[in-house]
Amino acid sequence: MIILGIETSCDETAAAVVKEGTVILSSVVASQIEIHHRYGGVVPELASRKHIEAIVPVVGETLNKADLTLKDIDAIAVTRGPGLVGALLVGFSFAKACAYALDIPWVGVNHLEGHINSVFLETDPPSFPFVALLVSGGHTSIYHVTSHTTMELMGQTRDDAAGEAFDKVAKMLELGYPGGVVIDRISRAGDSDRIKFPRSYLDKSGFDFSFSGLKTAVNRYILNHKDHIKDQIPDIAAGFQEAVMDVLCYKVLHAAMRKSCDRIALVGGVAANSRLREKLRFDAQDKGVCVHIPSSHLCGDNAAMIAGIGYHYLKAGIVSGLQDDVFSRSR
Ligand code: KG4
Ligand code: ZN
Repeated sequence: MIILGIETSCDETAAAVVKEGTVILSSVVASQIEIHHRYGGVVPELASRKHIEAIVPVVGETLNKADLTLKDIDAIAVTRGPGLVGALLVGFSFAKACAYALDIPWVGVNHLEGHINSVFLETDPPSFPFVALLVSGGHTSIYHVTSHTTMELMGQTRDDAAGEAFDKVAKMLELGYPGGVVIDRISRAGDSDRIKFPRSYLDKSGFDFSFSGLKTAVNRYILNHKDHIKDQIPDIAAGFQEAVMDVLCYKVLHAAMRKSCDRIALVGGVAANSRLREKLRFDAQDKGVCVHIPSSHLCGDNAAMIAGIGYHYLKAGIVSGLQDDVFSRSR
């Protein structure tokens, strides 16, 4: 089955063609960073308008790259949510109209399930069950995953998502948007032991997160040292990053132990973070746990993961209809 995946939940217009749910024939991601950069965050109305301009060329480029035409597509999978409603509507309406015109099945899928299934686009995916840490700009959650489409939420952030904290701290340090990748890079020149920020474990036996206190601590530090902050930016970035990573690694490994599970998947935009990839692999090795992390280009929002999860919905007989919209539950 050849599936066209479409993703427009936030600030990336993405399309991909995926065979049998795992083989990526092509994947195109058109980022809107340039547009939102000057505002220090995503402006929803601008995102929707940009998706409208980009969706047709992005799908065209994806098909070209795979050397296919729309006639070769067997089904379409599109992100239904969660995300910015105006942005979601563009991809969703496009997919609905396209499937209707081609008379092929289509399905609206959950973006988070897409991220979790991104590990199956790699050659060495985990077997079920496994524990997944999903860390993105909108979510920080731990799941016990028992099949492609069945997962139990074990814990989640009570305030900011980890990626959101990265973006906000980068803004405080005037490093631009999105901040995660900049903090990742700048931290390499810093010393994470020089400035110690608090680790918020909440209840150490539970799996919820909280990053707002850490964000406030960084802000307070910046205000108290504003006269010579420039020289300290790498150390602040490294200290902040390490505080986030300590908690993420502790909680996901603890969750794996709780479920007597020796497999972890690390997914979502923040999974591209070099320190997190290195630290989780290192900490997990100690506990005999195997860590599965997609390549960096599959961590951020992309449409290959949407086609990937769409394959499993369609195989299970789950399809969407003309009456569905981004508020409908597809299952
Ligand atoms: O999964 P994603 O592309 O979009 C959402 O579904 O939210 O995640 C975007 C988030 C942003 O907050 C971005 O700053 C963060 O992922 N991010 C990173 C890195 N690359 C992207 N955070 C830390 N280190 C990175 N290398
Ligand atoms: Zn995402």
